[in-house]
Amino acid sequence: MGSEPRSGERSLKTIVAVDPEDLAEKAAALLLTAIRTALSARNGARVALSGGSTPRKTYRLLARGLFAEKLPMDRIDWFFGDERWVPVSSPESNEGMARETLLDAAAAPAGTIHSWGAPAGDPRDCARRYARAILGDRGDESPVFDLVVLGMGADGHTASLFPDAVAHLSDGRILPIAADLPGDAAAVELPRSRGWRLTLCPNMLQHCRTVAFLVTGADKATALRRARAGDLDTPAAWIRGDETFFIVTRETMSSTGTDGALDVRHA
Ligand code: 6PG
Repeated sequence: MGSEPRSGERSLKTIVAVDPEDLAEKAAALLLTAIRTALSARNGARVALSGGSTPRKTYRLLARGLFAEKLPMDRIDWFFGDERWVPVSSPESNEGMARETLLDAAAAPAGTIHSWGAPAGDPRDCARRYARAILGDRGDESPVFDLVVLGMGADGHTASLFPDAVAHLSDGRILPIAADLPGDAAAVELPRSRGWRLTLCPNMLQHCRTVAFLVTGADKATALRRARAGDLDTPAAWIRGDETFFIVTRETMSSTGTDGALDVRHA
């Protein structure tokens, strides 16, 4: 996959919600629009979902929207930007959470849900297989994903791109996680023996039309400010789609000490 940025304008917008419920409504509406747009443009949509706790309510509302609009679920492909080294049946599993809140409720056909296949064999092989499955035999430079949904931690991590971890790439290289991490997918070794995660690399995550970060909590204010400002010490600053949205609660935004300046949109 080429790492050249695509031509054209890239936009960054921040949508401020009054509380987590309002955030879920605004986020679900935005995700639904991105999916609908992809379906009408090319009769298919490719979506990468995040884990974490923030998107649960959004996913439930999105399931209702997909169902109510009778969108063709057999034409929407679902991927996961990262995954924990656990089976789908585990409460820790990102795929498990997305199935429970969104995919089962929206009756996504089995073949449209693309699993990392954890925890089987070597995590590096899982990462290699997942990148291959996503990219297939693509011969063009059109975006890999129509929509990438992401969360962010108070340390600025997004997907499983943790600032203090190392990535094991499929070619055997072991590199600190950084904005210029090469490769498409990696197995991530968390520090202090906290085990493995699997993640798409920045290059793959931002090969995307719409990126939506869902962020709540006052503890994430500093990371949010850095991510929006493009501070390269903050992994969430590395991922930009053709259009990028930070959908945040007022609490998180006001703790940053800014009003969001020009990119704030009270949708
Ligand atoms: C995961 C993630 C991760 C998450 C953030 C925010 O697997 O947990 O994909 O990047 O989005 O840690 O998580 P919360 O929404 O729970 O704060």
